[in-house]
Amino acid sequence: MYVCLCHGVKDKDIEGLIRQGHTSVRAIRECSGAGGDCGSCACDVRAMLQRVRARDQREIDLVVAAK
Ligand code: FES
Repeated sequence: MYVCLCHGVKDKDIEGLIRQGHTSVRAIRECSGAGGDCGSCACDVRAMLQRVRARDQREIDLVVAAK
């Protein structure tokens, strides 16, 4: 699904950037352009950052709890 129509950036692209260590809207904008023009996708990028972080933390918590 496209998140940024101005730059043709999909949710999978942004998720990949987050997993590569791009942990801010600014970092994602610098790599993909998302949020750099009209800016209407910036809140979606921010929400994706929060979702991926929360999911990663849940996975870490599960691994720690299993030990
Ligand atoms: S939709 Fe992403 S900058 Fe316009």
